[in-house]
Amino acid sequence: DGKRIVTLIPGDGIGPEISKSVVDIFEAEGVPIVWESVNVTPVLKDGKTTIPEDALDSVNKNKVALKGPLATPIGKGHVSMNLTLRRTFDLFANVRPCKSIIGYKTPFDNVDTVLIRENTEGEYSGIEHSVVPGVVQSIKLITEEASRRVATYAFEYARAIGRGTVLVVHKANIQKLSDGLFLSVAKDVSQDYPDIKIEEALLDRVCLQIVQDPTQFNHVVMVMPNLYGDILSDLGAGLIGGLGLTPSGNIGQKASIFESVHGTAPDIAGKDLANPTALLLSAVMMLRHMKMDHHADSIQNAVLKTIAEGKARTGDLGGKATNTQFTQAVISHLAKH
Ligand code: IPM
Ligand code: MN
Repeated sequence: DGKRIVTLIPGDGIGPEISKSVVDIFEAEGVPIVWESVNVTPVLKDGKTTIPEDALDSVNKNKVALKGPLATPIGKGHVSMNLTLRRTFDLFANVRPCKSIIGYKTPFDNVDTVLIRENTEGEYSGIEHSVVPGVVQSIKLITEEASRRVATYAFEYARAIGRGTVLVVHKANIQKLSDGLFLSVAKDVSQDYPDIKIEEALLDRVCLQIVQDPTQFNHVVMVMPNLYGDILSDLGAGLIGGLGLTPSGNIGQKASIFESVHGTAPDIAGKDLANPTALLLSAVMMLRHMKMDHHADSIQNAVLKTIAEGKARTGDLGGKATNTQFTQAVISHLAKH
């Protein structure tokens, strides 16, 4: 009946509650998609953690997925399933916008940054070993191929959203080989985009400047190696009110997975207190990716209106609303209601 099938990975902790909020709002909006819900509880296969077969098949078939938070063990245990997903489906670019939410007061009210993070290698390559007791090596792997495709994506993205500059963020003064390669490949790619300027900046300097005045980055698209993007995107989220408010999209050739970046919040899980905004805005990104801009606009506006009004804010934003109340308020603000 012309409906697209999309994989839904509700995730752990508050994941199922915030996923339900998205499903309810999509239903009220009449978005023409059907959800295929799967879980990605790690499966041990030949001593490696992998994704359950049905989840693998579902994402491969549908090519688009929305994902809630997954618990990641710290310092031990299985490889993060978040990373396993990015690696398995070769999701090479991680797009992380940070935009101030009108009516939710933070020290800056005009933040509008876009960060694109290389998403498959760097310190996330998972190559670690102990040399002798007390000495370990964690390899930061940078390849021309991965650098080139993320740089290309950044230039394409800048063009698509009408930003005239790609800013390469690096530490090539120290990591002369790895970041040096990343930077020189980006410069090479820029040759194919005469309409877009390329600029470069050291990561530490960007950190300094972005907390002084984030708006100076409002007209660029930043691109950087994996770990820098992980850290700088949280910094950006902090400037607009936290990870409960920022969307993210993992883009690949074969599939794309949109996800909220916050954790599983076990302390409030199952209590109907979670804020679904980050997952909702990730779902809005997903709709734009699927060329359903009309529904994306309606849902995005409804979410922003709900927060701006202030009556149905969840606890993390200083309100008293439950997730269900917030969700109902969003539904009441959809374009067609
Ligand atoms: C993120 C998260 C993940 C990362 C964790 C959960 C593995 O922090 O998406 O930014 O480090 O990439
Ligand atoms: Mn992170």
